[in-house]
Formats: sequence, C-alpha cells, structure tokens
Amino acid sequence: MRPAPNFLTLHSQRSSVVLELFADEAPQWRYWGPRLNESTTPGMALRDTRPLPSFTLDFDQPLTLVPSFGVGWFGQSALLAHRDGRDFAQAFDHCAVEWLTPARSLRLHLSDSVAALRVSVTLTLDADSDVLVIRSELHNLGDAPLDVQWLAAATLPLPGQCDSVRSYAGQHMHEFLLQTDRLSRSLWRRESRRGRTSHDCFPGAVVTTPGAGADSGLVFGAHLAWSGNHQQTIEQLPDGRYQWQFGEWLAPGEGRLAAGASIVTPELVASVSDAGWNGLAANFHAELRARLPWPGGAMRPRPVHLNTWEAMYFDIEPGQVLALADAAAAIGVERFVLDDGWFHSRHHDRAGLGDWWPDPDKLPDGLAPLVAHVRGLGMEFGLWVEPEMVNPDSDLFCAHPDWALQLSGRPLLTARNQLVLDISRPEVADYLFEHLSALLAEHPIAYLKWDHNRDLTTAGLQPGLPGYRAQVLALYALLQRLRSAHPAVEIESCSGGGGRIDFGILRHTHRVWTSDCIDAVSRTDIQRGFLQFFPPEIMGSHVGTAPAHTTGRTQSMDFRAAVALPGHFGVELDVRRLDPLQRQTLGGWITLYKQLRPRLHHGRTWCGQGDDGLVWQAHGDVDAQDVLLLVYRMQPGSLRHAPPLRLAMLDTQAHYRAWQVLPAGAERPDGPHHTAPFFDALNRPEGLLLDGAWLVHSGLPTPRAQAETAYIVRLQRSGAVAAP
Ligand code: DGJ
Repeated sequence: MRPAPNFLTLHSQRSSVVLELFADEAPQWRYWGPRLNESTTPGMALRDTRPLPSFTLDFDQPLTLVPSFGVGWFGQSALLAHRDGRDFAQAFDHCAVEWLTPARSLRLHLSDSVAALRVSVTLTLDADSDVLVIRSELHNLGDAPLDVQWLAAATLPLPGQCDSVRSYAGQHMHEFLLQTDRLSRSLWRRESRRGRTSHDCFPGAVVTTPGAGADSGLVFGAHLAWSGNHQQTIEQLPDGRYQWQFGEWLAPGEGRLAAGASIVTPELVASVSDAGWNGLAANFHAELRARLPWPGGAMRPRPVHLNTWEAMYFDIEPGQVLALADAAAAIGVERFVLDDGWFHSRHHDRAGLGDWWPDPDKLPDGLAPLVAHVRGLGMEFGLWVEPEMVNPDSDLFCAHPDWALQLSGRPLLTARNQLVLDISRPEVADYLFEHLSALLAEHPIAYLKWDHNRDLTTAGLQPGLPGYRAQVLALYALLQRLRSAHPAVEIESCSGGGGRIDFGILRHTHRVWTSDCIDAVSRTDIQRGFLQFFPPEIMGSHVGTAPAHTTGRTQSMDFRAAVALPGHFGVELDVRRLDPLQRQTLGGWITLYKQLRPRLHHGRTWCGQGDDGLVWQAHGDVDAQDVLLLVYRMQPGSLRHAPPLRLAMLDTQAHYRAWQVLPAGAERPDGPHHTAPFFDALNRPEGLLLDGAWLVHSGLPTPRAQAETAYIVRLQRSGAVAAP
C-alpha cells in the first residue's frame, strides 16, 4: 500500500474539483462534479482501490491532468510533440504546486526532465458562477526546437454515466444548429480548421447524463475561448469514465517552439450543473458578464439599433441615409449604424476592402455630415468595418500585394472576392490601426461593427509558415490597441453573422451579430442555441423585413419583434417603407423593449420547450421572483387544446400574479387565442393569481394560437402559499 495520498481540492458554491497529487508524476483526475463537503476526499489512492486487470501493463496509469503518451497512456494524449522525431514520448517526473488563491486557483508545474519540457496548468474555479477556467502553457526547456502537434488547453474527466453530447453545427445563416450524439466507445470529435470560430462547428458542447433536461439533472459544459481553429474530443477510458480534451487545432508546423520558447493555450471555460442545461447556461452567463470589457466598467442599457445593411446594401447615398436616420429616430432608434458600402470604391462586394476612407463619389463631404445629422437626432453613430480583409481590387492591394496571407506557388484563393491580410506583420497592423484610429478620432463614432467574411485558406506568413494562430493573436492585439486608444467605443464581433462568437473575442468586444438570417422562425432556434453559452444582452437581434431577405418567409411585425425582444434589440429594414400601422407597431415594440431591457439583460434566462410545438424563453431575476415569459408558437398545434406550459423555475411554495405584456399603444390583438377568457383575466389590472406548485407541475394554460404568433406574460411572485 502506498502512503496516504495528498489531494488538491477546489470548491465553488455548487461544484468541486479533486486531484490526487504526486511529487513525481502528473496529478490524477479524481473528481469534477457537484459540490462535495469541504473535508471530503476520496480516502485512498486510486491505484489502491482497483486491482490490475489481466494482460495490462504492470503499472496502473489512470487519467491525469495532462495524460501523456510516454507513460503507458493509451488514450488521446494531451500533448503530442517531438524534437526532430525524438522526445516523442513524454512523462512528467516532477510536479510543483503553486497556489494563486487558496482553495480557488492554483497552477501545477509538471516537468519532464527527459524530454526537457514543462507544462504548467492553471485552474481557477469561480466561487459564485461554478465556472472552472483552465489553460496550459508548454515550455521548451531543451536546446533544440520542439514541434508541438497538439496541446490540450485542458483535459476534463467526465463520469461514466454521461450518455449524450449536445454540440452545435451550422452554416452561414443557420448558426447554433443543435446536434445531439450518443456517447459510446467510439471517439467523439468536433474540429474546425476554418481559421475562425466558425458557423459550422461552435467550440463548445454540453454533456448530459440520463434523465437530464433543461432544468434538472447533471450536465457538464465546456467552451474554448478562442477565435481560431479548434478541436474537442471525448473518449471513453478503460475505467468507464470519459476524458474530454479541448484545445486549439494547430496546423502542421504551427506549434514549433524554439529552444527556451513557450506556447500558451486559449482558456477552456467549463462548468457543471445539477440543474440541467439552463443551470449550466446561468453559469456561463455569469462568467461572460464578469469578463465583458464595458467602457466605463459597467454595461449601459443596450441602445436600440438601426443597421443599414438590409435597408440599403451597398447603395449608400447621403440623402437616403439622412432620410433613413430621420425615420429611425422618429420610432425611437438610439444608435444608427452605417453598414458596408461607405468607403472607397465599395459599390459592390468585389472592391474596396482595405481602403478605409469615405468613397469620394458617394460621400463627397465625407462622413462628417452624416455623423452630425445622426447625432443631431439624438442617436449615436456606428460604422461597419472589415479590417482584416482586402479586395484585390483596392488601392491597398495594388500598393501591397504581399500583405495578403498567401503561399508561394499556390493560387490566391478568394472568398466573397476577398483575401485576408497578414495582420501579424507590424506594418499591416499599423496601417489598420492608423486608418481606424483616424476615423474614430475625427468623428464621434460610438460603435464599430467589426466584420470578417471569409474562412482562412493558404494562410501563409511571409516565410511560408502557417499563420492561423498568429492571425488570431494579432487580431486580439489590434482590438486591444484600438480600445486603449478609444476606450469609449463599443465593438461588435460579426463574421458573416455568427462566425466569430466566443469568449476570446468577447474579451475585446461588446456585442455579436448572431446571424445574417433575420427570419424570426429561424432566429428562434439560433438564439436558443446561442443562449446556452452567452447572455441575451450581447445577442444582436433585429427586426427584419417581411418577406425575410434570406428565407423568403413572411411573419407578422409582432412575431418578428417578439423574437428579437430579449436580445440587444435592433431594426434591420427600411422603416420609411413601412405603412403607418406597421411603423406604429414597431415603435410600440421599441418602447416596450426600452421598458423591459433592465430586466431582460440581468439575472437569468431559461429556455424551454412546451408540448405540441411551443417554445418559450423566460428572463428574470435569479430567484425567479419576477419573470417575463415569452411564448412562441412555431407550428400550428396538432391538438384541439394546447397543453399547459410547465415552468420548473418557479417556487412551488409561492403564488404568482400574472399579466399579459403588450407593446405600447397596442390594442389587444384579435385572434382566437387573444379572445380566450384566460387573456381577459391576464389583462385585468390585478392580473391573475396562480399557484406556484400548479405552474411547476401542471402548468400555465396556453390557449390555442396560430402558428408564428407570440405572447408575453409577466409572472410576479406575490407571497407564500398559506399553510394548509
Ligand atoms: C456580413 C454581415 O453579417 C452583414 O450583416 C453585413 O454587415 C455584410 N457582411 C456587409 O457586407
């Protein structure tokens, strides 16, 4: 029997981490799960609790914090590296512990004296949000370069009862497409090599246990805070547990470390919840809220946007822009964003990127009169840019064709007629900084919509080396430099819609453009996926035109606005073309959004699915004392009577008063569901008193409604149920 082992423990409010510590090898993963008692330990060394199976190595090698190939580990290794073919097998022979904050944050330094390298892993468990942030750093201590093929940001243990994984696939115009896979003995892997976070493969997932659902059951989540290539793998281990590795996918040669050099992984943001995936969402929202870099240190109420893209596309003409701004201000828009089409020779998507000055033909007097007009109307001015890109048809490319990422001997592969600039070159970053900074210095611009409309291919740096990682790091540096020079400016991360949404870019930005698809039916689905990881206040959600430009489907103004309402609300249509009734309706929703945003953008979000085609979202304070329930009927019901909606987040010991919430000035709309006596009761000044236990277990009545309609109910706790 070995001497009593040492255990390292981290505890947050509702979760704990336990590692078994060794002085001469990597620590073993013993636990990541719901909160243990302060003094709980596994009691014995893991190796002493399990006899060696037949025909295995004579030495038990359990899952460690950095499982490595060299010590008889046959699963995926957290590190794959070599020195010119040598030192290919790593084994840690020393482990030093550095506590950064007692019981909360520590760094483990694992050294391999034979392969001459050290991996330092930092783990921080946030007391309140239950979010565990892990990152790894590899140091090449040898005197020759080390080629790193894979370095996991973290390896997490998952208990054997896990049975499914919810991840997100997608495409341009349908991000966050939920995909549920069964875990098995086969390796589960999702990987993106597109050079950006991607529409197709969101770097995050939720692993569930049997019976887990939206509001109950044990679930595990992880997300890589990184805007480039990535890979995640879940693999079953010989002891029935799973290991979950997550990290940056390195292109061949990209991980070459010179003697003495090191590489730091992105952060892995992970959490566990026994309150289902809504519980997990709350943890991720709390973590993201803590890291958002708001100007002035705190979020201002999210202003209503009007974005010109779907109203004007490239046809930017000053008179039209001014008229649109007038119409926008008249319905209550607070920030007017001039999208693509304003800069040099940008008459279509084939020219101009890189030439960041106003097009002299379209805007002979520059941006100043537009900015002044918009601000004169009481709105902020925002501007679209796509700094990392260049069109071959541009002054910039003519002057510096070598500034584009490229590989000698290979064709320049364009996408949307554009190439990607090598912004890791100081002269390129300086050029962009100077042009963007000049725009921000010359005009009171409050907001940049920072776009990025293509995947990276042949992303070669000048000497022919891969530049995917360098590009992401250079982007973060450029954003940081601009934000330091112009700290009041907010930035949106857009990438053909939602191709760059992650906790990494959100260290430097304040909003994301969730999708280029503004069709409200598609958006319901996209936004539900989004809300699994990100809070509603950063979710750009606009009311688009009917029929929707991207799908051709038509929905009512009320439905479009009700779907956009919970996010960072905006308008993406030509409000001048609306008939007076539509304009008034939209204005009413804008007024409602302004009233509700303090409650929509704090506290908790719950997403749910009712029976028979209903989906709903609730937003309220953390204890669900005051909740806004948005109910969407997506399809016509298949039952004569719609089944009630069970609302698990409410308190079974309380009563709730319920009112219908309608946009300002709205008549209670006609229609079979709105004329039901239930809605009569919800519209009385005193509302309708309902029992919490009834709402949790039986449910809120949901009158029959037509497809693509929505209604909003406010539920306010109104005291405890009287003792029987
Ligand atoms: C892609 C974005 O997602 C759109 O909103 C718009 O800004 C266009 N780019 C402009 O080119």
